[in-house]
Amino acid sequence: MGFAAKSYCSLLCVLVLLSTICYFQDGYVSSRATYDGSPDCFQTPNGTCGYGEFGRTINNAKVAGVSRLYKNGSGCGACYRVKCKIPKLCSDNGVKVVVTDYGEGDKTDFILSTHAYARLAIPNAVLELFSYGVVDVEYQRIPCRYPGYNLMVKLHEHSKFPVYLAVVVLYQAGVYDITAVNVWQVDSQQWRCMRRAFGTVWDLFDPPLGPLTFRAQVSVKGGTKWVQMINVVPSKWKAGAVYDTTIQLS
Ligand SMILES: *[C@@H]1O[C@H](CO)[C@@H](O)[C@H](O)[C@H]1NC(C)=O
Ligand SMILES: *[C@@H]1O[C@H](CO)[C@@H](O)[C@H](O)[C@H]1NC(C)=O
Repeated sequence: MGFAAKSYCSLLCVLVLLSTICYFQDGYVSSRATYDGSPDCFQTPNGTCGYGEFGRTINNAKVAGVSRLYKNGSGCGACYRVKCKIPKLCSDNGVKVVVTDYGEGDKTDFILSTHAYARLAIPNAVLELFSYGVVDVEYQRIPCRYPGYNLMVKLHEHSKFPVYLAVVVLYQAGVYDITAVNVWQVDSQQWRCMRRAFGTVWDLFDPPLGPLTFRAQVSVKGGTKWVQMINVVPSKWKAGAVYDTTIQLS
């Protein structure tokens, strides 16, 4: 009896331990995904994050609109690995996507670009997978990687020199969410908060005279930190221009 109880207990311990290990190694969440332009998706025509053309072409156009994961725009720029689960149709590796948009579907977390959706399938099952429209998937947040690229600050096209400044941060590597952006006001020696205009576009009326220094608050495991981008934007800035910060998040 004592022995049986003991071995039962050990077995239980082993099982609990194994499932814990598996959980941490695996870490995938079950959900559903569809694709851009499918009858099941409701997506705004322009990327809601505010990345513009960058948002359509980054990561070889393997991009996604998300619903719950959008988090009012702080989910913009996050990277996920998404795999579908239909035996004999789905590739083992799935696809790595960057969030550039908001999008809702039929109980989906992801509206994938057609490029991204195609990569869920093994090579000769692409058309068959498209015929499903919506598929069960599992996904995991992964670090974004942009080898050879620093963080860039883009001045959104709505900016109007010198009275209105709207910025978007591009090439956000690692597993960070941008949760606030400030600009340094030299004359009063203080940080000024920028407003989340929409998506991940941060704006300000009557901006300081340049060159402009920014700081972005990014969420990291267990907290947040500020990342400074010093004298990134020149005094005579132009709407639509992209400026190199010379730094990267990871
Ligand atoms: C969407 O993009 C098109 C073409 O780039 C533009 O004409 C239109 O105004 C944009 N719509 C919004 C809501 O930004
Ligand atoms: C969500 O974003 C909008 C702009 O897109 C902003 O006006 C609003 O304050 C944000 N809400 C929260 C809770 O951050």
